[in-house]
Order: sequence, then C-alpha cells, then structure tokens
Amino acid sequence: MANAAAPAPQANMGEPAVRRDARVKVTGEAHYPSDIPVGNPAYAYLVMSTIARGRIERLDLDAAFAVPGVLDILTEENTSELKTVAFTGGGGGASTSIQQLGPEIAHAGQIIAVVIADTFEAASEAAQKVEVTYAAESPSATFGSPRLTEDDAAKVSKIHTRLPNVGDAEAALGEAEMTVDVEYATPTQHHNSIELFTTTCSWVDDRLTIYEPSQFVYGLKSSVAQRLAAEAEKVEVVSPFVGGAFGSKATMTPRTALIALAAKRLNRPVKLVATRSQGFTVSTYRAETRHHVRLGARRDGKLVGYAHEGWEISSRPDAYVVAGVEESARLYAFGAVETNVNVVHADRSTPGFMRSPPMVPYMYALETAMDELAVKLAMDPIELRRINDTMIEPIEGKPFSSRSLMKCYDRAAEGFGWIRRNPQPGSMRQGEWLIGWGCATALYPTHIGPAAVRVRLLPAGDVTVQTAAHEIGTGAYTVIGQMAAERLGVPLGSVTVEIGDSRLPPAPVAGGSNTTASTCSAVMKACDGIRRKLSHAAVTANEGALAGRDPTQLTFRNGQIVAPDGAAELVEETFRRLGTSVIEEYAEFIPHGAPPEAVKDLYAGKVTLVGGPEGEKMMFAMGAELVEVRVHKLTREIRVPRIVGAFAAGHLMNTRTARSQLMGGMIWGIGSALHEATEIDPRNARYVNDNLADYIIPVNADAPSVEVILVPEEDHDVNPAGVKGLGELGNVGTAAAISNAVYHATGIRVRKLPIRIEDLLA
Ligand code: MOS
Repeated sequence: MANAAAPAPQANMGEPAVRRDARVKVTGEAHYPSDIPVGNPAYAYLVMSTIARGRIERLDLDAAFAVPGVLDILTEENTSELKTVAFTGGGGGASTSIQQLGPEIAHAGQIIAVVIADTFEAASEAAQKVEVTYAAESPSATFGSPRLTEDDAAKVSKIHTRLPNVGDAEAALGEAEMTVDVEYATPTQHHNSIELFTTTCSWVDDRLTIYEPSQFVYGLKSSVAQRLAAEAEKVEVVSPFVGGAFGSKATMTPRTALIALAAKRLNRPVKLVATRSQGFTVSTYRAETRHHVRLGARRDGKLVGYAHEGWEISSRPDAYVVAGVEESARLYAFGAVETNVNVVHADRSTPGFMRSPPMVPYMYALETAMDELAVKLAMDPIELRRINDTMIEPIEGKPFSSRSLMKCYDRAAEGFGWIRRNPQPGSMRQGEWLIGWGCATALYPTHIGPAAVRVRLLPAGDVTVQTAAHEIGTGAYTVIGQMAAERLGVPLGSVTVEIGDSRLPPAPVAGGSNTTASTCSAVMKACDGIRRKLSHAAVTANEGALAGRDPTQLTFRNGQIVAPDGAAELVEETFRRLGTSVIEEYAEFIPHGAPPEAVKDLYAGKVTLVGGPEGEKMMFAMGAELVEVRVHKLTREIRVPRIVGAFAAGHLMNTRTARSQLMGGMIWGIGSALHEATEIDPRNARYVNDNLADYIIPVNADAPSVEVILVPEEDHDVNPAGVKGLGELGNVGTAAAISNAVYHATGIRVRKLPIRIEDLLA
C-alpha cells in the first residue's frame, strides 16, 4: 500500500518492500557487534591524552594496577610489536597515521594507554588513576591559530593529484559583467552515530575474530592483520549490523589492533566500548573548511568563470583531502574554471569521510555563491541554474550519462509552490515571522566498485545471497534480496541475505553511496549464471514445455521458467531433470573502468571505486532542494517548517529505503545549517562539546515537514543495475538552501555554518 513512507513506484523504480531487518531491529533482536556474546570477556577502557601537543614524560601505573580486577595495561612500552599501517586517505587502510601510544602526542584525545580489567567498572576506575606527566607545548587548534602549516593538496594527496582547471578564469572573472567574490566557512562536525565505537577481539590459537561495526570488513581485516604482522587469512571481521557510521567506521582506527593485542596477551576475549566523548577522537570527523569562491557571469546570467579555493584542517602528519571541487566544477556550464585546495595542518586528529564528504562543504559554498549571484542579477535562483544547465561538463567536455537536474527543480518547485515567491528579501511575512524561501542543488558522484557474491538456489525456490556488504542503516539486506528475488523469480521472503562478515565473498567499502550499485550488479551477474544453467537444462531436454526453445528468451517468474508465449516449467522440475539439489553460482563483478585485478585487490582489502567525474561519461545523481525558513522578527529564532527535495538517481531498487535515505539526508542538512559544530578551545586544542547534550542535532520538532519527490530517471551507462546510489545525495545542498532562505527572509547574508541566532542580530 502506498503511503508517504512507501511511495508508489514510478518508471524504473522498485517496490517499497519493508526492510528485512526491521523486526529484529525494533525488537532488539539484532545483534550489533558488541552484542555478540563471547565467553568470559575482559573489559578495556581507553586512556587518552589531555594535551594536544608535546610528550609524555612519565606514566605512573601503580595506582591503576592497585584497582582490584585490573589485569593488564597497554602502553607504548609493551605495544611496540604493532606495525604502523600507512594512511592513504581513502579506500580502506588506516584512519590516521597517529597509531603509537606515545611518547609523542599529536592531538588531544590520542590513545595513550588501554586498561584491561575483569569488569568495565574496574577498567574505568583504573583508567582515571593512570598518572601522566606531560611536557606540553602550545598547540595549533584551528584556522587563525599560530604555527599552522599549509600544503597544496594536489602535491601531497595520493588521490587528488590534479584538480579541475580550464581556460583563463582570472581573465574571465576580470571581464565579467557581474561577479561575486566571497568567503565561506564550515565547522568541524562529528558523526555521532548512536552505536558507539566498539571492538571485541577473541583468539582461538592463532586465529583472531574481531567483532566491530565496520563499513569495510575486508579492509579492516587486512589492515589489522598488517598491524599485527599476522596472516590476513587468520583474521575474521564480524559486523552484521552497524548502528550508524556515516564514514566514521570505514577505515581502521588505532583501537582495533590494541584490543586484539590485549586479548592475545591475556588469552581471553577483550571487549571495548569507547565512551561517547572518547568517540570524538577514536575515529575521524568532518574537516573544518574555508572557501574563497568567485563567480563571473554575463548580465543574462550565463556563467563565464568559476574560481574556488578551499582550505581544510587536517592533522600534522596526514593529508586527508576533501576536495569537493572535483565534482562541483562539473556542475554547471561555468566557462573558465580554476580550483585549488590547501591542506592546513594543525595539532588535531586526522579527519576523514563524513556523509557526502566532498560535496557537503564545497556545495554549500558554491550554491550559496550562486544565490548571491542570482541576487546581484535580480534573477530567480532556479532560473540562474536553468540558464547554466548543461549535458556537457565544462572541464574536459565530457557528456553526462544522464542528468535530470532541471526536471528535479521543476518537480520540487511545483510541489513547493515556488511560483508564489516574492524575490524581495524580507517581503514575505506572517505575523511576527519573516519567511524566506531558498533553493540549492544536490549533487553526488555515482561511485561503483568491484564486488563478489555467491548465490545459492534450492529447488523449492529458497535463495541465499552471500557477500560481505554492510548494513549501515540504509537497507542493504533488503535491496540485495530484492535483486536476487527479481532475477530468480521468487518472493523476497524466500531470499536469505548474509552480509557483514569477512568470511563471505568481498564487497566494497560501504562508502561513497556505492553499495547498491556494486553489490546489486554482482548479484545480477550471479543470478544470471544460475538462470543460464537452468534455461539450458530446460531447453535441451527431450521433454517438457520448454524443450527446444531459445534460452535467451526465457524469464523467471513465480518459481517458473517462462517462455514469451506463456509456456512454462516449474524450476523444481528443471532441477529434477538436472539431477542436482542445489545450484550455486559465484560471480565477480568488475565495473567498467576498474582495473582487471580489482576483485583480487578487494580480497586484499583494497577497494577502487570508479565513476563520478572520472570516466568517459560524467556520472552523477542530482536533486533540487527547496526550503522555507521562518525567522522571528524579534528573537531571531530560526525554524525550518518545510523542505521539498526532488531527486533523480537512476534505477531505484526500493522507493521506501530511497525516500528514507533522502529524507534523513535533508534532516541532517538542517543540522549542518543550523545546529552542528564541534567547538574547539583555541588555547588547548580540545573539544568542548564532545557529548550529545552540547553537540546539537536536529530532532523531530526541528523537521516538521520533509517531503521527498522521486524523479524517474533511466541510465544504462552507470552500471548493469542502472543504479546511481543515493545514500549521501540528500544532505548535499540543504545547508545552502537554508542559508539562502535565511537571506531571503532577513536580507542578512551569513557566510558561515551553522547559522545561529546571534548571526541575525542586527
Ligand atoms: Mo560515506 S562518508 O562515504 O561512509
């Protein structure tokens, strides 16, 4: 039944099947990694550095060891056997190169000791009793701090080696009839998944099992094996459910090998559940950024130049690079383009992926600048985007595989009632509330990676799909099952999906919104192998309804193999003739443009995602987000009573999970616009709001109406499944749309996030 949560499928959209894991999740039966029981575990508690820069001079463990139940304490001295795994900045590997427990301190919240005890309470008590004497130095916390160093991202990044540049942007901007030249700022953000960062390690002889929420079990397995100098084949990572990750569980953090080592030393399973505030430095975060954006246009709105320079905070040793200009520079017919990104090194932990990592800060900057340009041109902001819409990207002149941006704007504008907008800032009011309407584009590159799956079909139609994909809340169990059910003509209820375990065939990191595209393409391939075997058996038989038919014309429906004229044979019957009780097919899918060794690399924990701006065609999912804000005339309280977003992302496997991802993304966008920021104390480079009470996120009352419009789109180039992926699309653009609406309501242009009441006090 269609309802708001389960939109009726339109062209090229799958059924809104209910999540396969819904029941176990709401009843608490779902075992997240730290829920999986292990025998007689000991408990670990992290001790973290309270200074951000300097050295540990002395660690006094006597008081800690005196706490009853304390079994062991790991420090730099007894962990030297752990190898350092290189930081690569993406695709698996380590989250940071800061892996040692001392004596050098590179950031506040660096793990400097791990206390292991019989109980969590004892470990926690003892951890507070570890006495540390530091030789502290004055740290650089953030932009504006002394002693920052800066690198050209293209020179230090292993990934972003060449940023988009075309034509003479300086000349184009110099001659433009209309220009904007503005600076923007975005804050540090933390993922704050409900599930904390946990690790449980258990050894049997030389075999290690790691229970840890992971977006990439093969990556974690291989990186931990490297840290331990162990054979990867002797390490297993188990992560059947992930309670939110958003990028924070995609790479190996330093904690995992420490817990593995602790378990080995004690010959007993060890369990760690890092606290909420420790989570702020256990894993990564969204880098704080600054932007200088220049746009040049003719009086008729046609863009002639775009220059975008970004600055991004990172740690001292690592160049984590966001570099959203790679994608933003493809969005419109810009004319000349010049982009630069600078990595700014501070005494901070290393940042990393956080939902829509490159796009969120960079599209906020670009889409706010587009609004500023529209204001200068006295032009409707949607019209400005229409004038500069293009099927050819401006950097290399490559075509888009498909692009439905203006269709999205049209649908969203219609749903929103945009036509009633009075362009004059401050002109729309209701009682004491100033009303503002703003818009922005959502853009996300279509990524696809290699994947391997095993599919098993039984005569009565029971199917098992096995692939080490990840359920991070997106619906992976469901959409993977749907693909197998569709291809093999069985009900979804007959399909068992096994994911989240490194003993299964490998799937890519659950990042970059690639899971559905990659795994479903692989499931298709394996199912088609099964279909070929059965079809062949059905048509080559001497008897039966399908004997002598063209096997390529057969389809699988309702447990039958069906010919175009309706002649059919039960799959069970075909099985009987084959004389087999199970058909199992293993398939490796390598996307177009990926290297032939991509699956072999995946087995080794290395993933190559292709797509986005890289191939012969530009592959992007797009959307349009229109928002209404209300700003109170006197108190300047900012509310977002409604958002309408329209999105096109190729084939949608499931309209329910699609809508849910897009809606959640836009709600997160409200957080980016108005709430979220991790504040750092510039004096000591420590976070001051590292808890869920002070790190503000939107709740239901902050998001009364968030409407998702699914725009049909067909794309045969992106991948066999035709799926673009949309897990990260929704929260791109929301912050800019809200910021633009705040301007429209008040006439005040705030050029930093989040926008707070104090920014609107005249
Ligand atoms: Mo997503 S930040 O690519 O996990």
